[in-house]
Amino acid sequence: MNTSLRIGGLVAGALLALGLAGLALGDDDDHDDHDDDHYEEYEHEHGSWIEPGEDVKPVANATYAEECGACHMAYQPGLLPAAAWQQVMAPEALMDHYGDDASLSTALRGELTDYLTANAAGQARKSRSRAFAVGDAGAGDLPRITATRYFRNEHHEIPSKLVAGNPEVGSFSNCNACHTGADEGVYNEHRVRIPGYGRWDD
Ligand code: HEC
Ligand code: HEC
Repeated sequence: MNTSLRIGGLVAGALLALGLAGLALGDDDDHDDHDDDHYEEYEHEHGSWIEPGEDVKPVANATYAEECGACHMAYQPGLLPAAAWQQVMAPEALMDHYGDDASLSTALRGELTDYLTANAAGQARKSRSRAFAVGDAGAGDLPRITATRYFRNEHHEIPSKLVAGNPEVGSFSNCNACHTGADEGVYNEHRVRIPGYGRWDD
């Protein structure tokens, strides 16, 4: 083996050790993430010791965060496929946005639609984001994250008294009422705390 290769190996080893130490110090709460099949799948694909447990890319557009985070959390673009975002962002659709008026100027609408579709489910590399791209996003009316087959499969065991009947939740659309890492794009079940119920163990 020549010297530069050996040095390269040493540097890579040192970086890996640093990364692992960072992970160990990172978040005590999540040390049992390794049990989680999606985490392992993710780790396998991307070497997640850099960003443990992130399911979808966090929102990285200040205008989007402000405009689309005014009434509910700013949903990450990776939670719906591009075609669904296009439906949501159509001018008529924004005027009657799930019962609210969320109209935008043409310029702003264009900018936010570009951001959403460029980072939509299926486009994004995160494995969880690909899951949201599978199946229909709700027939008929406007698409919903909460109507995707993947979403329903993950939430069907949760009794409605903890959701609609829970004043601190109200609806499944309020991801961040239960997912303490929702704003960081972390939906791992280990970070779920349902208000008035607590940690979810299934
Ligand atoms: C004026 C308030 C308001 C604004 C601004 C707003 N929304 Fe909404 N949005 C709502 C309401 C109300 C719902 C329905 C929530 C429910 O069913 O509990 C909703 C639902 C949604 C849903 C479906 C959530 C689900 O159930 O899966 C998506 C997606 C969504 N909004 C995206 C956006 C985007 C993108 C923007 C920015 C262009 C935006 N919203 C701006 C009020 C708003
Ligand atoms: C009422 C509380 C509640 C709300 C609101 C909620 N979730 Fe969940 N979610 C859960 C629970 C509990 C689980 C774990 C289900 C299980 O494993 O049995 C879960 C699981 C998930 C998972 C799978 C996580 C994994 O590790 O496999 C994803 C992804 C997810 N939720 C996304 C969302 C998104 C996106 C929203 C908002 C559109 C949302 N959730 C709203 C309670 C909630």
